[in-house]
Amino acid sequence: MNYVQLEKLGEGTYATVYKGRSRTTNEIVALKEIHLDAEEGTPSTAIREISLMKELKHVNIVRLYDVIHTETKLVLIFEYCERDLKKYMDAHGDRGALDPNTVRSFMYQLLKGTAFCHENRVLHRDLKPQNLLINRKGELKLGDFGLARAFGVPVNTFSNEVVTLWYRAPDVLLGSRTYSTSIDVWSCGCIFAEMISGVPLFRGRDNQDQLLHIMRIIGTPDDRVIRKIIQEAKADNQQQPKQYPRYPKIPFSQVLPKASPQAIDLLERLLQFDPAKRISAAEALQHPYFTSGQLPYPMPPAGTMAPPSFNFAHAPQHPQQPQAQHDPQAQAQAHAAYMAQQGMPPQMYPAQAQQTQGMAIPQQHQFMSQYPQQYAGGR
Ligand SMILES: Nc1ncnc2c1ncn2[C@@H]1O[C@H](COP(=O)(O)OP(=O)(O)O)[C@@H](O)[C@H]1O
Ligand SMILES: [Mg+2]
Repeated sequence: MNYVQLEKLGEGTYATVYKGRSRTTNEIVALKEIHLDAEEGTPSTAIREISLMKELKHVNIVRLYDVIHTETKLVLIFEYCERDLKKYMDAHGDRGALDPNTVRSFMYQLLKGTAFCHENRVLHRDLKPQNLLINRKGELKLGDFGLARAFGVPVNTFSNEVVTLWYRAPDVLLGSRTYSTSIDVWSCGCIFAEMISGVPLFRGRDNQDQLLHIMRIIGTPDDRVIRKIIQEAKADNQQQPKQYPRYPKIPFSQVLPKASPQAIDLLERLLQFDPAKRISAAEALQHPYFTSGQLPYPMPPAGTMAPPSFNFAHAPQHPQQPQAQHDPQAQAQAHAAYMAQQGMPPQMYPAQAQQTQGMAIPQQHQFMSQYPQQYAGGR
């Protein structure tokens, strides 16, 4: 093999990952080793991972460089990242919780990578902190596409056992197999909350317990919603409609007291029980949490492995907010228009819109113009 195997980086569900160095270029890479069972041959998870990842070239998706196939093992050569998001939170967080700037940057990059997958008709299906990788530049990349699959063709034969329990969408928990991009969006919401608070939002022991954990926070939905989801589940997979306790909704501002109103508003849209009501990753990127240009937090000190500024929102490119950063009035109007478009009652948005008035141009937007290449197009 053209790579020297160095220390072990991690062990996942079906593979062991090592750090490696190329003998020819000295480049550091990650070697994902999948042991092959002589009887079974190459596992389907690996085949999926290879064929999907070869096509997905984006700054927020871990790059697959090469595949080495021997009799006993399959080695996938990936771009190297310092650590996964779980380890990053343990090392850099305040009891796991990340500072608001980092949360915003990581969230932006997570949604950007997810939207790119969805645009290319790929579902990740297993988004969780252990499968998100962070490199030394603070770039976040989606990794571990072992469970991913293209959703171009039939969508009704998916297995029900996919997304790791804590990040699993309620429609999947209710037996839905016709799910689509909305299941990844749910996981993004769970990861968002976890980055803010430092602890996983819904920690269920099994399917039913996971559903109850979700309902205890976002409230038990209307019976009609549950029935609709169950009816949409394939007949062979249908669960009997159960009587669920009628939990009231706990406002996210109470669950996550540290979160800003805009963060709460975005979280609300990501964590909709009804998959049809969930925002898409592409829409989420346009949310005022990213685009309002509001920066109430100081930039993290230099050299702390802070996320790069160019990964923040690109308000200058926002089609609906051309003058937003220069004109507070226009910014407030754009914000109000967004809120109205999203169905927010008018009494909800003037106060938030006013907050954006008189704000200085955030530093990120100035940085942005220095990195158009890396940022635009994202390839
Ligand atoms: N490219 C990489 N750079 C650095 N560490 C990695 C890389 N890929 C994976 N890892 C580490 O190895 C762990 C397992 O890798 P993953 O691809 O998730 O395998 P599995 O499919 O077995 O879960 C990850 O959680 C992460 O800690
Ligand atoms: Mg994994």
